[in-house]
Amino acid sequence: MNAIELDAATFRHEAEEMRFDLHVEAGEWLAVIGPSGAGKSTLLDILAGFLAPSSGIVRLDGRDVTTVLPAERPVSMVFQDDNLFPHLSAERNVALGLSPTWRLPAAVRARAREALARVGLAGLEERRPSELSGGERQRVALARAFLRERPILLLDEPFAALGPALRGDMLDLVAAQRSRLSRKPTIVMVTHHPQDAAGHADRVAFLEGGRIVLTGSPADVLSGRHPSVAAYLGRTES
Ligand SMILES: Nc1ncnc2c1ncn2[C@@H]1O[C@H](COP(=O)(O)OP(=O)(O)OP(=O)(O)O)[C@@H](O)[C@H]1O
Ligand SMILES: [Mg+2]
Repeated sequence: MNAIELDAATFRHEAEEMRFDLHVEAGEWLAVIGPSGAGKSTLLDILAGFLAPSSGIVRLDGRDVTTVLPAERPVSMVFQDDNLFPHLSAERNVALGLSPTWRLPAAVRARAREALARVGLAGLEERRPSELSGGERQRVALARAFLRERPILLLDEPFAALGPALRGDMLDLVAAQRSRLSRKPTIVMVTHHPQDAAGHADRVAFLEGGRIVLTGSPADVLSGRHPSVAAYLGRTES
């Protein structure tokens, strides 16, 4: 079954019209690469429901959600900017994924603490985002996203600001969190780092000029045999 189906989903920011056709199987991990401005974030925002396509269809988990609000979609998203509430503790930020109420039920608190422990933040539950490093903040954002156990996880360069070793750790963390769920979430991950895609994704999509111009196995797409990909990777000679 496909977890994601975009059929000619069209969106125009200003001058350029973007149009996306994409099928992603349930449980698949898709990496999305492509030049800055190609439309990668636009694609994820259409999936999450933050942008409404002017035409075309968005189907998630077999349901037409084209006009469904973000909160009602089977989706969690982690952004480059961690999107945490600055005045709330790590624990409350995570708990918000489950319960929007101020008085947290004990069971929700316990689950938030467990989720923080799983991303290596045991003992830091009471810290506010400003008291955490960038990498730790992204761990909080990941813990929140995974705790919701939505079928689809969208990652818009959440680790872009981290160094290579830490980025690798974070990707391993995503993989570990994913594998402990009985129903593996479908992941769409935007990255500017080919090695992130090569190490973890089942498939890679290359975007250019508001279109998905190529999808295939990481080895195939990243081989650079397609001239646009080669140019993007800086291998213009191949
Ligand atoms: N809110 C907006 N208003 C007008 N134009 C926008 C807006 N958001 C994005 N665009 C334009 O749409 C195009 C695609 O933007 P998008 O953010 O999807 O690119 P991207 O592939 O995510 O790039 P990056 O790798 O830099 O994050 C760009 O040309 C951008 O300038
Ligand atoms: Mg972007």
